[in-house]
Amino acid sequence: MTAAFGHELRGHWPLEDGAIYLNHGTVGVTPNQVLAAQWEIKQRIEAHPARFMLRDLKPGLRAAADRVAGHLGGRGEDYIFTDNATTGINAVLRSAHLRPGDEVLVTDHTYGAVANAARYACEQAGASLVTVLIPFPIADEAAALAAIESGLSDHTRIAILDHITSETGIVLPLAELVDLCHDAGAQVLVDGAHAPGTIGLDIPGLGAEWYAANLHKWLFAPRGCGVLWAREDVQPELHPAVISWRLGEGYTAEFDWTGTRDPSPFLCLPAALEFLDGLGAEAVCSYNHELAVGAAAMMADRFEGTMGAPAAMASAMALAPLPENLPAEAVEADALRDHLLYEHNIEVPIVVRAGRLWARLAAQVYCQMTDFEVLAGAVQEWTATR
Ligand SMILES: Cc1ncc(COP(=O)(O)O)c(C=O)c1O
Repeated sequence: MTAAFGHELRGHWPLEDGAIYLNHGTVGVTPNQVLAAQWEIKQRIEAHPARFMLRDLKPGLRAAADRVAGHLGGRGEDYIFTDNATTGINAVLRSAHLRPGDEVLVTDHTYGAVANAARYACEQAGASLVTVLIPFPIADEAAALAAIESGLSDHTRIAILDHITSETGIVLPLAELVDLCHDAGAQVLVDGAHAPGTIGLDIPGLGAEWYAANLHKWLFAPRGCGVLWAREDVQPELHPAVISWRLGEGYTAEFDWTGTRDPSPFLCLPAALEFLDGLGAEAVCSYNHELAVGAAAMMADRFEGTMGAPAAMASAMALAPLPENLPAEAVEADALRDHLLYEHNIEVPIVVRAGRLWARLAAQVYCQMTDFEVLAGAVQEWTATR
C-alpha cells in the first residue's frame, strides 16, 4: 500500500462520504478488503455448512489463534476467540468462584459493562466490589500505581485493570501494576479492549492471569472478534460464560465450541493482519499516536486546558479539554455530541470528567489533522451560542 496516511487512505474503508469519523475506538471500522475476505469465508461455510462447522472449523480457529499469538505474543493454544471483550471478562468472573469476604478491585475508569459484570459477580457471591479512584487528568504513571495500591487488601482476589482506559484513553503501567497486585496476593484480569493495534504488545510478558481484548476495534478484524488469553496454570479452572458440549474437555475445546455462532470474524484474522501489515503495524501505531496527541494538544491550547494524560500515557486516543464555560453535565455532553453528528457529520464521544467536558479523540490512519481542526471550529461555534 503506497498512499500516504490520512484522507488518501479513506477509500480502503466503507465510511460514508463527508463523515468525519473520530471514534474508531467504540466499535472499530472494518476495511473493505477484510469485509471481502469475510464474504468469501461465509460463502465457503454456506457451501456445506455442517461439514464446515463440525469438521473444518476447529483447525481453522486454531490456525487463526496461532496468527493472533504471532502478533500479540505467546502460544496459539493459550488464546481462544470470544464475541467481544465483555464475553471474555464474564467467563473469567463466572469461573472465579468468589466467596463471601472476597474483594474485586475495579477503578472509576473501568468500562461500565465490565464494572456491571464485576458488581453482579460480587453480588452473587457475597463478595465486595472495591472501586478505586484514578486521578484525572492524570500527571504520571506513579499516580496510577498509588491509586491501585491504595485499593488492594489481603482480601483482594481479582483486580480488573484496563490496559487502556475506555472513556479517558489512558495507557496504564500494566506490568508494574500486575507486580503490585501479585505482591498483594491478587490475581489480575486485564481489560485490553483497546490495546491490540494501538500499542506494541507482548501479552504473556505482562504476567497477568488473564487478558481479554477486542480485535474488531483497532486490529481491523470484522465486528464480533474478541480474544481471551489465559496463563497456562489458570486454564483448567476457566470455562466459557455459556457452557456447551465440550465441558471438561479442556480450555481450547470448551471455548472453540460454545454453540452455533458465526465464526467468520475469527477466521478473518489472517486477512485483518495482512491489511495491517500492508500499512505497517508500527507505522500505524505511531501515526495514530502522534495524530491523537497532536490534536488533543491543539485543542488544549485553543480551549485553555490540559490534555487528559501526558503524551507518553496516550495511544491512538487522547482526551482534549473543551471550553470551561460549557456546563459540565451529561445533558450538555449529549446535546453537543448530537449537534456535532447531525449538524457537522462529526462523530466523537463527549465525556464529563473533573468538572468540565472533554472530547475523546480517536485517530485512525484515515484521519488527519484537518478533521480535528473542523471539530475544534464546530465546538467553538457551539460555545458561542451558549
Ligand atoms: C475498555 C473497554 N472494555 C470493554 C469494552 C467492551 O467491548 P465489547 O462491547 O466489544 O465487549 C470496551 C468497549 O468499548 C472498552 O472500551
